[in-house]
Amino acid sequence: SEEESESSVESEPDEAEAAEQAEAPTEMVALRLPPAPPGGAGESPVPRGPPAPAGTPAGTPAAASSLPRPPAKPAVFIPVNRSPEMQKERLKLPILSEEQVIMEAVAEHPIVIVCGETGSGKTTQVPQFLYEAGYSSDDSIIGVTEPRRVAAVAMSQRVAKEMNLSQRVVSYQIRYEGNVTEETRIKFMTDGVLLKEIQKDFLLLKYKVVIIDEAHERSVYTDILVGLLSRIVSLRAKKLLPLKLIIMSATLRVEDFTQNQRLFPEPPPVIKVESRQFPVTVHFNKRTPLEDYSGECFRKVCKIHRMLPAGGILVFLTGQAEVHALCRRLRRAFPHVGRRPPAQEGQEDSVEKTRKFKKSRARARKAQAATLPPVSLDNYSVLPAGGGDEDREAEMDEEEEALGSDLDLDLGDDGGDAGEQPDASHPLHVLPLYSLLAPERQAQVFQPPPKGTRLCVVATNVAETSLTIPGIKYVVDCGKVKKRHYDRVTGVSSFRITWVSQASADQRAGRAGRTEPGHCYRLYSSAVFSDFEPFPPAEITRRPVEDLVLQMKALSIDKVVNFPFPTPPSVEALLAAEELLIALGALQAPQRTERMKQLQRSRLSCPITALGRTMATFPVAPRFAKMLALSRQHGCLPYAITIVAAMTVRELFEELDRPAASDQELAVLRGKRARVAQMKRRWAGQGASLKLGDLMVLLGAVGACEYAGCSPQFCEANGLRYKAMLEIRRLRGQLTTTVNTVCPEAGLFVDPKMEPPSESQVTYLRQIVTAGLGDHLARRVQSEDLLDDKWRNAYKTPLLDDPVFIHPSSVLFKELPDFVVYQEIVETTKMYMKGVSAVEVSWVPVLLPAYCQFDQPLEEPPPAYCPEKGRVLCHRTSTFYRVGWPLPAVQVD
Ligand code: CDP
Ligand code: MG
Repeated sequence: SEEESESSVESEPDEAEAAEQAEAPTEMVALRLPPAPPGGAGESPVPRGPPAPAGTPAGTPAAASSLPRPPAKPAVFIPVNRSPEMQKERLKLPILSEEQVIMEAVAEHPIVIVCGETGSGKTTQVPQFLYEAGYSSDDSIIGVTEPRRVAAVAMSQRVAKEMNLSQRVVSYQIRYEGNVTEETRIKFMTDGVLLKEIQKDFLLLKYKVVIIDEAHERSVYTDILVGLLSRIVSLRAKKLLPLKLIIMSATLRVEDFTQNQRLFPEPPPVIKVESRQFPVTVHFNKRTPLEDYSGECFRKVCKIHRMLPAGGILVFLTGQAEVHALCRRLRRAFPHVGRRPPAQEGQEDSVEKTRKFKKSRARARKAQAATLPPVSLDNYSVLPAGGGDEDREAEMDEEEEALGSDLDLDLGDDGGDAGEQPDASHPLHVLPLYSLLAPERQAQVFQPPPKGTRLCVVATNVAETSLTIPGIKYVVDCGKVKKRHYDRVTGVSSFRITWVSQASADQRAGRAGRTEPGHCYRLYSSAVFSDFEPFPPAEITRRPVEDLVLQMKALSIDKVVNFPFPTPPSVEALLAAEELLIALGALQAPQRTERMKQLQRSRLSCPITALGRTMATFPVAPRFAKMLALSRQHGCLPYAITIVAAMTVRELFEELDRPAASDQELAVLRGKRARVAQMKRRWAGQGASLKLGDLMVLLGAVGACEYAGCSPQFCEANGLRYKAMLEIRRLRGQLTTTVNTVCPEAGLFVDPKMEPPSESQVTYLRQIVTAGLGDHLARRVQSEDLLDDKWRNAYKTPLLDDPVFIHPSSVLFKELPDFVVYQEIVETTKMYMKGVSAVEVSWVPVLLPAYCQFDQPLEEPPPAYCPEKGRVLCHRTSTFYRVGWPLPAVQVD
């Protein structure tokens, strides 16, 4: 068509060649063993070995070729009673012809890498090969990890069906649910679940094989698992209880695993599964739409559906909200009878959540105490013994679920399509697909569409490699992906929509060529494509690592720096993380008496504290987790949760400083700015409450908005971002659930409408915030320091040489307290602190002892015996670290 430039992509072999390849026995790339004997993989007479005897030397690929055949041991062959149709389907999969090669490699080597195109059968078939070869005999389990919940559930169902076994035998376990039984022999789980199991049983004794699937996704948990398992495999070999590790990935950058001496001193063999892939013609858009890629997807699907021959359509979008909006729009445009009413969509979650909240509401409501000794640093919530089984789940899922697109995607019921007549003559069977969709609904995409309709699946990134949908001929790729973005300065994360990598885009295109030649429509130009990164970066290199370090310490991996990461974070990043965690009390500080060098080394191997364990359960940055852990005191939890949720979401207020296109718009913006300033002052209040500053504004804004039913109108009128408000609400729910696991006696429930905090609670909240943001303390420049004008009204921070200022949008802009903590510093015309809250200087040595250098105890006043503490106390003065700000004397032990 006229708007597309055609650039036929030769990425795949032509049809004839592809068909031939499907028949011919394929070759391994690295490992060369004698060719498989004739007879077909299915009933191979060659023994498929049980685990190799302990101590079998791991061969390099080169060594492998010189090795003799594996010893002919009697096969432990567990028969599987598959239906003939299933068997026929299976035999079409390219991986079937590799069964013997794979099984021989597994018998000979402790670690094997299997890589192959998505859809070649890795996930569904390799566990079956292992099962048949007896790797689940003696009550042991074949474990398979997935970075996404959706894949763990779908694959366990599929494999059970193929093997004609119940889900009692082929089961799954994800964070909130599972169907594992005593009889389970093949267990699909998320990588987070296996990590938790390693915490309890480091040798993973109930497994004979562990398969790490989708290793190319390079999720942080998968990376950690690969590193951990490389060690567990050698420990198990020493104990004569060999464990096999199989790493499976799409054909992306296997070198990160094979060429990593530290990870695998002897590179494991790589078995490449050639797959039958039909050619895919790639069509680029001439222009790249800037904003409305969702609308562009809609138009493209309409066009394909009206004009092109039969074949399923797969649309790649960025998140759950976008997926639903497009599904609604397409269903309205191409209605057909006999489908479920769309009203049910997305409601399962909220029903379940409501139930949970109601249940916790039934628990005791705590009276709110309010007498005023300072918050105690020793009074924090720690995990109840044996509790805290809250699994850290794959972040991938969160990414897709997160809202946070600034596009207006909620098209309402009359939005967007005015003038488009529903077209019932072209029925389209539209299905959503994303990670957190209920499993039954996910399974629908694998069913053939109703007769006479065309299948159209609107999916997030899950359809890129995790799931293969049958019958797709057309792919529509928006070219974007939703990813968590980590702010290096604050450690705060947010979700951003960015371009995908070239490898991902090609992977998406490949989805169209599974069953016949297909077409991929890219909603961006080829020029934009050539600017994409070649590969998606490993997640671990894209973010600060303090939370990751905390997670690993919770796994008792104390020397994080020695950990064999497939792609390691920098030592500086690790050191910075450890320092912050020590200061927060999450890790035990090394003895200060050690010499500096040793100190540095031991800094990198500090064990976790009880507080650290609690902090590790909260799905927020450690600074915020510390606030949550402390806020059980004085009934501060609901407020701290709200503040933390609001800080995590960020940019609660609309951007009103944008240039206006017309005088009229300028007037509107001005009016709104005035209104927002007025509301901020009102929310911040006076006196004690104003000192909590911008965080009080957050609290007030969320509270007021909830009172107004969290309506879009209220947000609009007050310059609040509606999407941000929804996200805060969601995060408050999530944090409340976590708090209830950590601290069940809190019996917390989410009451969106909070009573405002009492005056003393506000003071406690300021202290709690100070304890969490201690490394973000700033001190107003004293008049004697005012050497030149650029320091007027400025603040000094320990880390920056330049003056920083309170942002004009802050309610403390004119207040200029002597000490403040800030959430972040943004640099525009000057360095501005945002999210500012006032700190009393007397709190600093008490709440932030880790940042203070205490002098020799003063003789004046003399040491005094303190009867309550049963100890002698004395007064000490201190200064704030690196900058030497004098602090008032405190009583210490
Ligand atoms: O893991 P890999 O991408 O190599 O392939 P797979 O997930 O094992 O899928 C192999 C084949 O099984 C695909 O062609 C899917 O279409 C098919 N399959 C299916 O028909 N129904 C399912 N629920 C799962 C997979
Ligand atoms: Mg797979």
